[in-house]
Amino acid sequence: MRSLIDILDLSVKEIEELIAVACDIIENPAKYAETCRGKKLATLFFEPSTRTRLSFEAAMYELGGNVIGFSEATSSSAAKGESVADTAKTISCYADIIAMRHPKEGAPLVASQNATIPVINAGDGGHNHPTQTLADLLTIYREKGGFDNLTVGFCGDLKFGRTVHSLISALSRYSNVKFVLISPEELKLPSYIKKDVLKKNGIPYEQTTSLEEAMPKLDILYMTRVQRERFFNEEDYLRLKDSYVLEPNKLKNAKEDLCIMHPLPRVNEISVSIDSDKRACYFKQVLNGKYMRMALILKLLKEAQK
Ligand code: CP
Repeated sequence: MRSLIDILDLSVKEIEELIAVACDIIENPAKYAETCRGKKLATLFFEPSTRTRLSFEAAMYELGGNVIGFSEATSSSAAKGESVADTAKTISCYADIIAMRHPKEGAPLVASQNATIPVINAGDGGHNHPTQTLADLLTIYREKGGFDNLTVGFCGDLKFGRTVHSLISALSRYSNVKFVLISPEELKLPSYIKKDVLKKNGIPYEQTTSLEEAMPKLDILYMTRVQRERFFNEEDYLRLKDSYVLEPNKLKNAKEDLCIMHPLPRVNEISVSIDSDKRACYFKQVLNGKYMRMALILKLLKEAQK
């Protein structure tokens, strides 16, 4: 059974195909309005979410399907001690496809190993968030026309930011991509990603604490929230949470066609006065996420029928 746990579960060609379907959905939504009639998506969210859960649900409704699920662990039998494996086996009796978010890294993988229907990882701990990456890739494609020859700056919490980890993996498969990793010392990109993704693929990267110095080089600036829920110590969170705040004066040396991204939610990382700047793309990411999740649901349900 085909699931999506890690963005690298999809080949470059499959990502191109998903982008093509998403673009067709944008152009011809009526063509897709009945494509999931009679199918059910289960959204199993053991952690809070606004965009991912509701965009999955909107995606399924716009495909003509239905949605069941829960939005917090306390309203499921996980609160009584039920395992992820048993939950996955149970939901397989009710639904055709699962989108699961869980605070434990690897939980959606365990679900996929026990379910008899496709499982989509909707974010697992500080690990991966492949459908956010699909949203990010469609946004970059629509803004930049492709993925080659880009210098991408990731700024903020690169240690716990699962959207960063997944997007770095995805972009590492394209030509002449460079990364600038901007973070406080304590929130640097984990060593295993530098070793297994960047060094292994010969991707040039630099690490810095200075957003201002990095800014002129960047084609894309991917801002991130400091992930309070992953900290063991509130004092450390309070010390680091406002390490980077993007304000209009910080853009004075930025490229005219810079693409400013953020997976959202934002707390304080991007001033609301940037929202009206034509380079702000973070609410475009939100909408693109729905289209890519529509394309993904269609693909996985089609493959499950084979
Ligand atoms: N980007 C993202 O995952 O947002 P939510 O936590 O609101 O789903």
